[in-house]
Order: sequence, then C-alpha cells, then structure tokens
Amino acid sequence: MKIFGFDILPSTNTFAVEHFDSFENQDIIMAETQTAGKGRKGRKWSSETGGLYFTIILKPSEINAEKASSLTQIMAVAVCKTVRNLGAGAYLKWPNDVLYKGKKFCGILSEAVVSGTSFKGLVIGVGVNIEQKNIVSEKPFISLADIGVKVSKTVLLEEIFSNFQSVQKQNFINEFKKLCPTINKEIVVDGKKGIFEDIDNAGRMILKTEKGREVIMAGDVQF
Ligand code: BTN
Repeated sequence: MKIFGFDILPSTNTFAVEHFDSFENQDIIMAETQTAGKGRKGRKWSSETGGLYFTIILKPSEINAEKASSLTQIMAVAVCKTVRNLGAGAYLKWPNDVLYKGKKFCGILSEAVVSGTSFKGLVIGVGVNIEQKNIVSEKPFISLADIGVKVSKTVLLEEIFSNFQSVQKQNFINEFKKLCPTINKEIVVDGKKGIFEDIDNAGRMILKTEKGREVIMAGDVQF
C-alpha cells in the first residue's frame, strides 16, 4: 500500500477512477481539501481543511457486485471500530453510515470502475469530519473534535486501514450487526415500516413487514 497525498483535488474518488490503471491494489489517494467532494445520491461533500478525505483503490481477485458492496460495509465497520477504539461511542446506520448520537461524522462513497462491460475494480472514498468548523450539510453532522476525540489524520488513516484489513478476515456481517443498534427494532426504510430482522450474507436488510419479509438492497433508515 502506498499513500499519494495532495493538497487539493476536485475529488479523491474522481482522481482514483480517472487514474485507476496507474495505481496498485490498496493504494490510497488523500487530499487536504476537495473542491468538488462527492456524496451519495449526487450530493456535495463539504471538504474544508481539517477533515480526512481519502480513496482506496481495490482490485480484488474475485470481482463482482456483491463483493463490492461487502467491501463498502467492511469499510464502515472499520471506521466505526477505529473511532470506538479512540473512546467515542460510534455506531453504524445501515447500509454504511457511521454516526454518533444521531449525527453523522463519516460518509463512504464507493464507485465501480468499468471498462466496456467488464468490472475492473472499485474505489472506496471515505470522508471523516475531524475538526473542520464549517460543515455545510442538510443533515445533522458532527466532527470528532466535537465528541472529544483528538487524533491526527495520519494515525486515523493508519488505524482505519489496519481495521479494514482485519475486518476482511472476519465475519463482517456479525461485526456490522454488533455495531448496529437498530437490529431487531422497528424502523422505517424509505417509507416502509417493519422490524429490521437481519442482514444477509450480501449485506442486504431483511425487513419483516405486515406483508411478509422483504430483502432491501439500499435505503434511508429512520427510527
Ligand atoms: C456520503 O454521502 O455519505 C458519502 C460521502 C463520501 C465523501 C468522501 S470524501 C473522500 C471521497 N472523495 C469524494 O469526492 N467523496 C468521498
């Protein structure tokens, strides 16, 4: 693994996708600030100085869409464990947000890299609010500094990377469930009410509704 650090980039994810072939598996692209940080669903990711913004290049030997979504959730588990090891009660919101007391401090955006019809790999972009003051977002956000966690970017990145390696060797679904407080609770996901009964081996939600069980690939959970 090598880390390629930049002062400023439009987006570490965009850079990783555009230069995918020049990097090796597990290489990391990091930027101090991003001018066009991307969030999920086409949202912007506020990327002022003081946050950690990086993208890891993944060229797994067995590449398929299921493995790709698992790796994204493995990254969420890795970030959550890292922050818990630093003393804060972080937890996971399915499918891959990391929160503290209902407020988000980390977002993860994965993008598949394709050439024609073949899947070449995946980039996983991670943004962690460490100590930036002016986070622009429509949703409640918090930074690690606000919750009493003092950590340098280098240590945070090293710990996340190391946990990312170890969680890949574990049963990540069990690890995810241990860190996800809404398991077995009543929730609403994209307007559908039910009990969040389980997470299957592909990381999908099993929701028990009045009409029966539904398998949900992605969605916005409220509880
Ligand atoms: C989300 O909407 O929750 C995902 C946010 C992902 C942000 C990170 S910051 C590093 C990487 N580069 C980007 O442009 N986005 C991701």
